[in-house]
Amino acid sequence: MAKLLIRANGPLAGTIPVHGAKNAVLPIMAASLLTDEPMTIEGVPQVKDVASMIQLFDHLGIKTRLSEDRLEMQRVRAGETTAPYELVSQMRASICVLGPLLARYHRAKVSMPGGCVIGPRPIDLHLKGLQALGAVTSIEHGYIVATTPQLRGCSVHLAGAFGSSVLATGNTLMAATLAEGVTFIEHAACEPEVVDLANCLIAMGAKIKGHGSPVIRVEGVEKLHGTRHHIIPDRIETGTLMIAAAIAGGEVRIQRACPEHLGAVIDKLIETGVSIEKSNGSICVRSNRKLQAVDLTTLPFPGFPTDLQAQMMALLSVAKGVSVLTERVYPERFMHISELNRMGASITREGASAIIKGVDRLSGAPVTAPDLRASAALMIAGMVADNQTELTGLEHLDRGYEHLEQKLTQLGADIRRVGL
Ligand code: EPZ
Repeated sequence: MAKLLIRANGPLAGTIPVHGAKNAVLPIMAASLLTDEPMTIEGVPQVKDVASMIQLFDHLGIKTRLSEDRLEMQRVRAGETTAPYELVSQMRASICVLGPLLARYHRAKVSMPGGCVIGPRPIDLHLKGLQALGAVTSIEHGYIVATTPQLRGCSVHLAGAFGSSVLATGNTLMAATLAEGVTFIEHAACEPEVVDLANCLIAMGAKIKGHGSPVIRVEGVEKLHGTRHHIIPDRIETGTLMIAAAIAGGEVRIQRACPEHLGAVIDKLIETGVSIEKSNGSICVRSNRKLQAVDLTTLPFPGFPTDLQAQMMALLSVAKGVSVLTERVYPERFMHISELNRMGASITREGASAIIKGVDRLSGAPVTAPDLRASAALMIAGMVADNQTELTGLEHLDRGYEHLEQKLTQLGADIRRVGL
């Protein structure tokens, strides 16, 4: 079994680049289903989720060629509109092929994504968006089946119980590009990954306005063409590296970063006592490890991202004082609490909040990553714990981070991967 052996090794120092955003590349790959022409995506991270999406694309008749960070895609077979369980169950983002398949072929059959450890993952907003555009949907034998004679422009309000939905906005947006007439998506997600998707669609010939705001206007066109698109930097990888530098201490410059995507994170880290310098395309974090407790709430963009909640909890475990961390996007996303407590943290959960009493030190222990971001949080905790931390469950880490342990090792951390 593969595991990481982690030991504290003093402050971090150096410069490190971030990869392209995993959560931008997956829907943008799905957007390539909207055209028969070749597409090239640059800045593609080498992560398992991209590999899983490539497998799904192979099934859907798209030939792919990945060399370093460039992915070339070209349709070689038309007409396959089913995304089967074996391929879709590995990755929730594959639900974003639903809108493009429906728009292009007027029919799509996509295996229902299950729940997962970060909490229930409903699909009502995906269906609402597509139904408003004129799709008839049903759930049959574990599959979402959507059909339409022709998608038509509409006004649709996409607010859910926990705010906007990133991938439901993406699905509706992609479908609307080929619908007849004008669509208004209200309460659209404003995340940078949605903006990147819209920019790629515009480069493919779509007519979109208002992306990045809660109301997106899409004027349907008959056809989209291929394009070359460069993916935005991964703000979650950037934030993870910033938090690692803050907790371990030292000075780390993160290159190819986009500070504008991380306002809430920068603000909170400064509140903990870390110094941050932003310049065009890079962020420098300086920390003397004297961290203070802060209260924070995760929210849709531009709020503090849920995908950095676990990593921030690891940091607050050793900050002076009591922090209250409230999760407003996935109120059940707290599986890492018990693992951090096994390392000596003092965290209790009250509903959608975690109460974190800062401790002087963490102690290394065998821990298992319950999900992707929790794996990074436990790695970061291990970097300041006594003795050795053994982290298993690396299949989660590898889904979304490209060689995170190698990057941290390059900055001075003591992390070794052993086993297969
Ligand atoms: C995206 O998931 C990301 N995944 C997630 O990243 C991220 O945590 C999430 O957005 C929130 O920022 C990808 O982009 C591939 P949502 P998504 O729909 O779009 C509720 C990571 O670690 N909801 O914005 O699936 C939902 O339950 C991951 O990289 C409905 O109620 O998330 C949640 O409470 C994990 N009905 C809230 O909306 C729906 O139909 C936001 O979820 C859909 C969602």
